[in-house]
Amino acid sequence: MRERFSSRLGFILISAGCAIGLGNVWRFPYITGKYGGAAFVLIYLFFLVILGLPVMVMEYAVGRGSQKSAALSFDVLEPSGTKWHWMKYLALAGNYMLMMFYTTVCGWMFYYFVQMLMGTFQGADSEMIANTFTSMLASPAINVGFMVIVILLGFFVVSKGLVNGVEKVSKVMMICLLCLMVCLALRSVTLPGAMAGVKYYLIPDFSKISENGLGEVIFAAMGQAFFTLSLGIGAIAIFGSYIDKDQRLTSEAIRVVALDTFVAIVAGLIVIPACFAYNVDSAQGPGLIFVSLPNIFANMAGGRIWGALFFLFMSFAAFTTILAVFQNIMTITSEMFGWDHKKNVLYNLIGMLVLSLPCALGFNVWSFIQPMGAGTTIQDLEDFIVSNNLLPLGSLFYVLFCTAKNGWGWDAFLEEANAGNGIAFSHKIKFYCSVILPLIILIIFIQGYITTLFG
Ligand code: ALA
Repeated sequence: MRERFSSRLGFILISAGCAIGLGNVWRFPYITGKYGGAAFVLIYLFFLVILGLPVMVMEYAVGRGSQKSAALSFDVLEPSGTKWHWMKYLALAGNYMLMMFYTTVCGWMFYYFVQMLMGTFQGADSEMIANTFTSMLASPAINVGFMVIVILLGFFVVSKGLVNGVEKVSKVMMICLLCLMVCLALRSVTLPGAMAGVKYYLIPDFSKISENGLGEVIFAAMGQAFFTLSLGIGAIAIFGSYIDKDQRLTSEAIRVVALDTFVAIVAGLIVIPACFAYNVDSAQGPGLIFVSLPNIFANMAGGRIWGALFFLFMSFAAFTTILAVFQNIMTITSEMFGWDHKKNVLYNLIGMLVLSLPCALGFNVWSFIQPMGAGTTIQDLEDFIVSNNLLPLGSLFYVLFCTAKNGWGWDAFLEEANAGNGIAFSHKIKFYCSVILPLIILIIFIQGYITTLFG
C-alpha cells in the first residue's frame, strides 16, 4: 500500500514547501528589482495563472491517476505501444540537476545564518561585507562543507519516511517560515524611508518595462513562473500520488500557487523597502541577498538578530524544497530500480554528494571552467540546463500527455482532475490547453536560447 500524507494540511504545506524556495526568496526579489517593480509583478502573476496553474493541475492529475512517481506514472497511464514513459529519464535528470546547484546555494544560506548569529557583520563596512561573500565563494572548504551538511541533513529526514520525515519537518518549517516572514516584512516596511520602496514595489510604472525591453521582461516572468512552482520534472506530480480523490485538483493547485505567491510577494516586501531605506540598489542581481542585505543589517538596530532570522527564513525555504525533491528522487529510483530503502538512501546520498561537487568547486578550484562564456560558472550552466531546458520541456511533455489523443488524453485527464469536491478544471479550455499552452511553452524555450546565444 502506497504511503499517504497524514493530513491535508501536510499535503498542501509540502507541495508549497516544494514550490517555495530560492526562487521565491532569492530570485524573485532581485529580478523584481531588476525588471521594474510592480509592473513586472503584474506580468509575473499573469503567467502564473495562465501557465503555472494548468501545468500544476496536470502534474497532480498524472501523479494521482497513476499513484506512481514519474518513474512509472507514464507506463501506467499511456496507451500501449507509446513511448511517453521515456519522460522518466528527463524527470530523474531534472531533479538531480536542480539539486546539484541548489544544495550549494542552500549551504550559503546556512553559512550566512551562522555568520549572522556569530555577529560577524556587526559594525562591518561595505568592503568587508563584500569580501565575506567573495571569500566564501573562494573557499572550497566552506562551499563543500556546507553543501555536505545540507545533503546529510536532507537524506536523514527523507530516510525517516514520508509521514515521519518529510511531512513532519516540512510542516514545522513552513509554519515557522510564514511567521518569520510576516515579522521581517513588518520590520522592513516600518524602517524610516522604506515607503518609497513599498511604492516602487506595489505601484506599477510601465515605463520601467521599456527600459529593459518588453520581450526580456515577459521572458523573465514566464521562466520565473516555471521555476517557482518546480514544474516539469514530476516534483509536484509525486505529491498527487500520495493523496485520495476527495478534493478536485484545481482547488489544491490554487492553494499552493496562492501560498507560493504570498511568500514571493512578501519576500520582496522584506528586501526592496529595506534597500530603499538604506539607499542600496535593489536592481543589482543575485548578490542582493548576500552583499546588500548584510550591509543593511550591519547598520540596523538589532541587526544581528534580524539578520539571523532573515537567513533562517531563507534556509527553511531552500531546505523544504530540498526535502521535497529528495523525496521525489528516492521514490523515482526505488520504483525504477527496485532498491530497498537502505540501498536507496545510500546510493542516492553518494550520488548527490558526488554530483553536487562540480557546482561547489566551480566557484574556486574549478573556476577556470567557464562553460557559458567568460566569468560564468558551472552553476550557471546547471541553472541554464534546468531552468531553460528541463523545466519548460518537461512541462510541455506533461501538457501534451494530458491533452493528446495518443497520450493519456483530455477526457481521462479531466476526469481525474475533477474527481472530488472543489473548483472544477473547465472543459471549455481544451483548445487553450492543447494548442496555445504548448505554443507559449515552446516560445519560452526558443527565446531562452536566443537570449543566451545573442542576448
Ligand atoms: N520551486 C523551487 C524554488 O522556487 C525550485 O526555489
